[in-house]
Order: sequence, then C-alpha cells, then structure tokens
Amino acid sequence: MNATIIIDKDFQIARVDDRLFGSFVEHLGRCVYTGIFEPEHETADENGFRSDVIDLVNALRVPIIRYPGGNFVSAYNWEDGIGPVEERPTRLDLAWRTLEPNTFGLNEFMKWSKRVHADPLMTVNLGTLGIDNARNMVEYCNLEKGTYWSDLRRTHGIEKPHNIRTWCLGNEMDGPWQIGHKTPMEYGRLARETGKAMKLVDPSIELVTCGSSKYIMPTFPQWEVETLEHTYDIADYISMHNYYGNWDGNTSEYLALNVEVEDFIHTVKAACDYVKAKKRSSKTMMICFDEWNIWFHNKQEDKKLMSQEILPTATPLLEEYYTHEDALLVGALLISLLKNADRVKIACIAQLVNVIAPIIAEKGGKAWRQTIYFPFQHVSLYGRGIALEPMVSSPTYESDRFGPVPYVESIAVLSEERKELVVFAVNRNLEEPIDLHVELRSGNFRTVIDHQVMTANTLKDTNSCEGEIIRPVHSKKHAADERGITVSLPKASWNMIRLG
Ligand code: AHR
Repeated sequence: MNATIIIDKDFQIARVDDRLFGSFVEHLGRCVYTGIFEPEHETADENGFRSDVIDLVNALRVPIIRYPGGNFVSAYNWEDGIGPVEERPTRLDLAWRTLEPNTFGLNEFMKWSKRVHADPLMTVNLGTLGIDNARNMVEYCNLEKGTYWSDLRRTHGIEKPHNIRTWCLGNEMDGPWQIGHKTPMEYGRLARETGKAMKLVDPSIELVTCGSSKYIMPTFPQWEVETLEHTYDIADYISMHNYYGNWDGNTSEYLALNVEVEDFIHTVKAACDYVKAKKRSSKTMMICFDEWNIWFHNKQEDKKLMSQEILPTATPLLEEYYTHEDALLVGALLISLLKNADRVKIACIAQLVNVIAPIIAEKGGKAWRQTIYFPFQHVSLYGRGIALEPMVSSPTYESDRFGPVPYVESIAVLSEERKELVVFAVNRNLEEPIDLHVELRSGNFRTVIDHQVMTANTLKDTNSCEGEIIRPVHSKKHAADERGITVSLPKASWNMIRLG
C-alpha cells in the first residue's frame, strides 16, 4: 500500500505554542504522594522530590503543568497547604475520598516545577469556594510585598513572588460529579466575577474558563455558548477535556478516535466564534485542552474501591498500564492537536506520574516509561515550530462511527531553529506496512536525519518495571528520489521522520 503527504513550507497552519506539550499533576492516588514526592525514596532530594522522576519528566520537556486538580480542586483550600508543614491539617478529600495530609502544597509544587523547568497552570476552587479565596491566592502568589497575603508568603520564606501567569477558573463545572456543580448561568456569573477580581489583583494574568468536560456531555455545546456570554471578556482561553478508551475491544474503531477530537475542537471553535460575533468582540478565544489522554483500563475497579471506605493517602488509583495500541492513539491525538495549532494553544496530557500517566514511579522502587511516553516525547521535542497543512492521501478503511478513515494519519512541522522538517505519522493498518511518500513542494529537506519507529509484537503489549519492551528504534527503511523521500511505515506503527 502507498500513501502520500505533500509538504509545502508556505502552507502554514500556525506556529505551535510550546504549551501544547503540557501535563497535569493532581492530588489523586499516587501522583503527588509516592509519585513526584516521596521523602523516603533513595533518589529523593532535600525537598523529598524524587530525582528519578524529575529526570524522566525533564526528558519530556513539559513546559506547563496544571495543578492541583482536577476534581480535587473543587473542595480544596490552598491555604491548607502553606506555612509550617507540622501545622497543616489533614483533610478528607471528597473528590477521591482520600486522606489529604497537605504535606505537599502550593509552595512545594512551585519549587518542584522549577526543577522540571515548567510553568504552573494553576486552578482555583469554584466548587465550594469563590471570589475571595481566588483573589487571595493571586495576591499570595503574584504580589511582591506590602499586602496581607504577599507578606504572609514572605513569612513562609518565599521572598520573590511566584508570578503565576495562567489560571483556570475551576474544573469541570458542567459535570454532575463535580463538587459544587453549576448550571451555565451560575458558573458563568461566578467565573466572570472571580476572574474580574483576580485580574484586578494582577492585570497581567491569563484566565481559562471552563468548557465541557467531555464531548458526549448532554450540555455540550450549549454550555460553551451560555457560559461564554458571561466570561468572554475576562477569559483568554476556554478549556476542553476528553479521555478515550477501547471499550469494545475494537482496535480499528479505537484508533480512529482522533477524528472525534477534531470534531470536538471544531465545535468548540464554532461556539466561541458565535459568541464573539454576538458580542461584536475583536478577541478570538483560544483553546486550552487541559485534560486529554486514555483512561478506561481500570475505571470500574477504581469506582468500586472509592465506593467503599475512606482511602489512605497514596492509594493507587487510575493506574493504567498502557498498551502499544494506546500509544498509537496518543500519537494520532497529538497529530490532531498539531493540526489545530491555530486555536489550541495549551494542552495537558493527563496526568504526568502514576495516575493515567506516561511515567510510573514504583513506591520505593524504580521509575519507568510507559508506551505512551515515547510518541509524546517525540512530538514535544521535535514538534515545535510551524505546523504545516497536512495534505495527505491515503487508502482508507471503513469505520462504523466515522465512515472512511485514512490508514495514515500524518503532519509535518517545520523547525526553523533546527532547520529541519519533521514528519509524524501513524500507520493504522493492522495487517500491512505502508510506503509513505513525502513529497516536498518547497524547501530542500532531502536527507533523513533520523527515522524513529515504534512497533510491538502484539497490540496489547505493555511496558513494565521489568522492562521497557516497547520503545522507538531507529529505522533505515527509506529512500530518496527527485521529488522527496519514501519511508516504510510498518503495520500498526508510530513514526517520526526528521528531514534536514
Ligand atoms: O484526570 C482525572 C480526572 O478526570 C480529573 O480529576 C477530572 O478533572 C477529570 O474528570
């Protein structure tokens, strides 16, 4: 089989915002406790941060990390996590029915995020709390001195403000499961007034208003339209969340799910642009896709666990072991994000460590990379630059949900800095390799610097503590001709081709 991607460096979608490769740390299961923070671990630094985990995070070059939730934030008070550790209260976290010791809080997160060279994407509680709590938090974090909250920060040993630039106005407030769930009107009014107060404290901040928590929410996209009527002027981004799963055990249908994500993004854009037109606004609302990933393997068991008693801190929850086919879908989803780089400016793979995560940190043991770590790493490291219009022609297969789906999903990014053209491609054909002809209409990128390819013996193979059996390897299966390069994409594979 053959497919073609035509590449012209003048047909540009947009410059990719580095923040497209963000991630998420929530107080949930073992993400914080025994994930990024384990003072007893042999690699822990003087702050209790696991250095083995930090190394794996740094190798992903994640530029922005959402914190502290998630559902957790909607009944959390950030004030519980500041000041002397021995004076901090242990609370019952209602989102995950877990004991929260508050030994890790805002200032610890800020210290940790510096070690991984990431900016925070801070979320405020608009479930049980509101305007006062949020504006105090901005004052504590961003003002230099001379006010109650900024001076309190200084008594906690942090002289310089954290200068947190981007803030989320609550989490999934459209979801009936959310503590403090709201109607669009209730949320829109509260988010607007909270955002207004936060920007009065620090006018330089950017705000993310809550969009729908999944594509299939019955209130989507009316939620976007109604809430934006209130928040359009104060917000800079609207959030999107979605998780995917191979619930029916049908791999071909599963691997086509990035088609759905593109529909989701297009509808959110349309809802935003409708409100923009209605308001005669000159501002274009950008998208912050601040929770996306695969989440289905253990959902039922986790539900059972949480329906019983209150869980001790660091109970394993949402610990998914990702397969090769999951990695292929993550690759396709990343390509879809790049295709929409003109409107999606921030995106967070959810989450970062242990909880639906690319990195697993065994308690007291090793940290290792899941299958999904690798496509994410490729795109994060080499997908920065200008996303080019993907003119792909590929044989298709018939999907029950989406009709004809191309076997090859692909896009190219031009890096002026490295003088490279990088092609990312998933071959969704489960039986056959495909020769992808990369046809260059402009630019002289005829040397293959590297072709990384990820395949597996079976689609259900996973990595584990014992070994990262699924990882990319170097391929030499490519040939140049006068019009470009032909690369062989093995069946069911993830590929990155760097041309120079
Ligand atoms: O990431 C796990 C959970 O998924 C988050 O807490 C919530 O926002 C979403 O429903």
